[in-house]
Amino acid sequence: MRIPRYFIDELMAKVDIVDLINSYIPLRKIGQNYTACCPFHNEKTPSFTVSSEKQFYYCFGCGASGSAISFMLNYARFEFVEAVQEIANRIGVEVVYEQDNTYQVDNSIDDLYKIMQQVSAYYRQQLRESQTAINYLKQRGLTGQIARDYGLGYAPDGWDNLLKIFGTDTETRNNLLKTGLITQNDAGKRYDRFRNRIIFPILDRRGRIIAFGGRVLDQSKPKYLNSPETTLFQKGNELYGWYLARKQGVLKTVIVVEGYMDVVALVQHGIHYAIATLGTATTTKHLTFLFRNVPEIIFCFDGDAAGQKAAWRALETALPLLEGSRQIRFIFLPQDDDPDGLIRSEGTQAFNKRITQATPLAEFLFATLQQQVNMNSIDGRAKLVELAKPLINQLPAGAYHDLMLQELSKLTGLNNLIIPKSQLKQSVNTSFRELSLVKRAIVYLLNYPELVKLIKYPEKLSFLNQDHIKLLLNLIEFIQFHPQLKLGAICEHWRYTEHESTINLLAKKKALSFENIDAIATLNIEEEFISILNSLYQPCQEQQSIDLLTQINLKLAQINQEKN
Ligand code: GTP
Ligand code: MN
Repeated sequence: MRIPRYFIDELMAKVDIVDLINSYIPLRKIGQNYTACCPFHNEKTPSFTVSSEKQFYYCFGCGASGSAISFMLNYARFEFVEAVQEIANRIGVEVVYEQDNTYQVDNSIDDLYKIMQQVSAYYRQQLRESQTAINYLKQRGLTGQIARDYGLGYAPDGWDNLLKIFGTDTETRNNLLKTGLITQNDAGKRYDRFRNRIIFPILDRRGRIIAFGGRVLDQSKPKYLNSPETTLFQKGNELYGWYLARKQGVLKTVIVVEGYMDVVALVQHGIHYAIATLGTATTTKHLTFLFRNVPEIIFCFDGDAAGQKAAWRALETALPLLEGSRQIRFIFLPQDDDPDGLIRSEGTQAFNKRITQATPLAEFLFATLQQQVNMNSIDGRAKLVELAKPLINQLPAGAYHDLMLQELSKLTGLNNLIIPKSQLKQSVNTSFRELSLVKRAIVYLLNYPELVKLIKYPEKLSFLNQDHIKLLLNLIEFIQFHPQLKLGAICEHWRYTEHESTINLLAKKKALSFENIDAIATLNIEEEFISILNSLYQPCQEQQSIDLLTQINLKLAQINQEKN
C-alpha cells in the first residue's frame, strides 16, 4: 500500500508534534520548547526536547531525533503506513492511497490479529476451568498473578475445539489456517495445532498476539510446540517477553534466557527485564532491535559446553553492533541448572548477584581465546593476536575497538598492533564549521526554511560541481513550494530516498535550531546565511564571467563577420 508523498507533506503541515508526543509521554513547557526525560535512553534529567516551531524532536543526550512520523515509528513502534494512518486518524483526515491496480488493499491482516486475540481469550478461560492445568502451573511454582500478567492459557485436549467454536464460516476457518492455529494434513483434514498444552502467548513489540508456544503437562514429546512462521510471526524477529518488560518503563538492561518458563519465573521473582529468543540463536535482528532500546544485554547460558558455544555465537553476532556505550555481558549457570530452577532454589538476591557479576564481553573473548594458546610462549602470544584481530576488527570504529586492541597488546606484550580504526575513519561528529559550504547551507535552510527568500538566483548554484548540490537545489525548490512546512516535515519528505541519512544528520547539526529566536538572533542568522551563499556563489560568478566573456567574444566575432 503506497501513500503519495504529497499527502504526507500535507499531513505534516497539519499534525502537531507536541500534542502527539504529549499523548505518549507528558511534556513540560520550558521557554519555547517542551521537554521530558528521553524515552529513547535512560536518564534522570530531561534532555529530550520537542520544538513546536520546528515540528521536530531532538535529544541532547542520545541524539534521537525526527518528525512526528519518526516518533510513531521509533517510540510507538508503528510500521510506516500505520503511523501515517494513526496520525491521519487523530487529526481526522482520510488517508489517500496511490492508485495501484496490482495491489489490493489488505484489511485481512487485522482479522488475523483479531482471531489470535479471541483464541487467546478462549485458552485463558480454559485454564481457569482446568484443575489439571492449574495444578501443573502451581506445581511449577507459578502464581496466579504472573499467569494473568503473561496471559497463560490452556489448550484442552481434542482435535477440533477451535474449529467448532470459531470456525463457523469459511473466512474464519481460513484465517485459523493462516495463523497456524489449525493445520491441515495431506488428506485435507483440519485439526487444532495445540492440544492438551499450557499456552504462552507471544506478543510483538506493540503487544499484539502473533503466535503461541505450548508446553505439554507431562513427559511426552515434543515438550514445546510453537506456532509456525506466518504472516504475523517470524521467530528470528521476535523476543518472548519484550513487550511486557518494556511496558514497565525504559529499561537499562535486558537479560536474555532460553525458555518461556525461565522468563516467567524470573519476572515472578522481580527480574522484570527477562526475555527469551524463541528456540533460536540470537539473530542480528534481535540485537539491532534490542540495542535501539537498551544499552546493555546480558545473556544467560548453561554452564556446559553447549552453553559456552551458544555464548560464543552470540558474541560473534554482537561484535559489529557494539558502538558507543553498548554493552554485552554473560552469565554462565552451574551445570544442569536453568534460570527457572535456580531462582526458585537460591532466591532473587543470589540471582541478582550473578547479574552484577556477569562477565563482560571483552573478558569472555580474551579468556576463551587464551585457552586455545600457550600464553607462556612467544608463538602462543602471537597466535592470540592472530585469533583476536579478526574479531576485534568486527567492532565499529570507536573507543571500545581501541580499548580492545590496547588490552590485546597488554596481554601479548606487543605494542602498536594495528592503527586504531577510529583514526582511520573520519569522526562522525564533525562540527558544523567543518561541514562543506553546501552542507552548511542545507543546515540553515532545514532549520530556518524562511531563509529561502534570500536566495535570489538558485539557478546559479546549479553550475556548481560540488557534493550534495542537487540536494540543496531540490531543498530550495521544495521549500519555495511548501513555505508552511517546518524542519520535521522537510525531513519527512526525504524519508526512503538516497538523501535520507544526509538530511537527518544535517537536521541535528545545529542545536541552535532549538534556541529562542529573537530579532537580533534572526538578523545574525540571515547574515551568516548570506555569507555562506556568497562564498557559494563565488566560483559560479567566476564561471559566469567566463561564460559572459565567451559570449561577448562570440558576439564580437559575429559583428566582425557581418562587417566584412
Ligand atoms: P521447562 O522444561 O518447561 O522448564 O522448559 P525449559 O524452558 O527449561 O525448556 P528447555 O530448556 O528444555 O528449552 C528451552 C526453550 O527451547 C523452550 O522454551 C522452547 O522455546 C525451546 N524448546 C525446548 N524443547 C522444545 C521442543 O521440543 N520443540 C520446540 N519447538 N522447542 C523446544
Ligand atoms: Mn526449565
